[in-house]
Amino acid sequence: MKLLLCCVLATLACAQDQHPITKRQIAPVMGEGGADWLTRPEREAEEHPEAALQEIGIPKGATVADIGAGVGFYTLRLARRVGPTGTVYANDIQPGMLDRLKERVEAAGVKNVIPVLGTVSDPKLPANAIDLELLVDVYHEFSEPEKMVRKLREALKPDGRMVLLEFRGEDKDLPIQPLHKMTVAQVRGEIEPEGFRLAKRSEILPRQHILIFTKKAMP
Ligand SMILES: C[S@@+](CC[C@H](N)C(=O)[O-])C[C@H]1O[C@@H](n2cnc3c(N)ncnc32)[C@H](O)[C@@H]1O
Repeated sequence: MKLLLCCVLATLACAQDQHPITKRQIAPVMGEGGADWLTRPEREAEEHPEAALQEIGIPKGATVADIGAGVGFYTLRLARRVGPTGTVYANDIQPGMLDRLKERVEAAGVKNVIPVLGTVSDPKLPANAIDLELLVDVYHEFSEPEKMVRKLREALKPDGRMVLLEFRGEDKDLPIQPLHKMTVAQVRGEIEPEGFRLAKRSEILPRQHILIFTKKAMP
């Protein structure tokens, strides 16, 4: 019991509440209580998910990963876009979110989704295997952002892309809690030192940045 308590305290002590480079305050993880918010009817109009995926470009037959997939709002759309010859890894750290995601995948009759329970520092994806990693409204919740991004880089193929959608931190009027928004400068300041470069920035969405990163050589 004493050992267990020590381990829990050690884990809590390791958790960062600020990003070491930008000093951005890390947001708390959305719990299962927020699951219904992820499928709220007005989300389509607020976020234009199909336009986002069209803009990113999701090739048929691709192997993609929905990181922090929640209940699968994007997973199902990705599964349709990659088609039966493609694969979607649906990653999250909360088993309850993944249970709901599995129910939705089953109800939709979708066969090409592989749910993956990750940890806060490791998405548990195969190495060098992913064409595209999609992170919608999740990066700002990573409690171990540097470790996660390193692992995400390892999982990407050499020409793979890592795509972040984040609510615009530059827009003070956006009705989203400040900790759950990010500026482009914050995202670049944190992601690029981990061996990525911003290959494309798109602002076609009403509320979110689309930021597409590719790998650059590490010294
Ligand atoms: C705001 S929700 C967004 C869910 C989904 N991307 C969507 O757009 O509907 C954030 C999700 O990220 C997950 N999450 C937080 N930290 C994570 C991490 N380190 N690795 C994987 N998932 C994480 C949470 O459990 C939660 O399900």
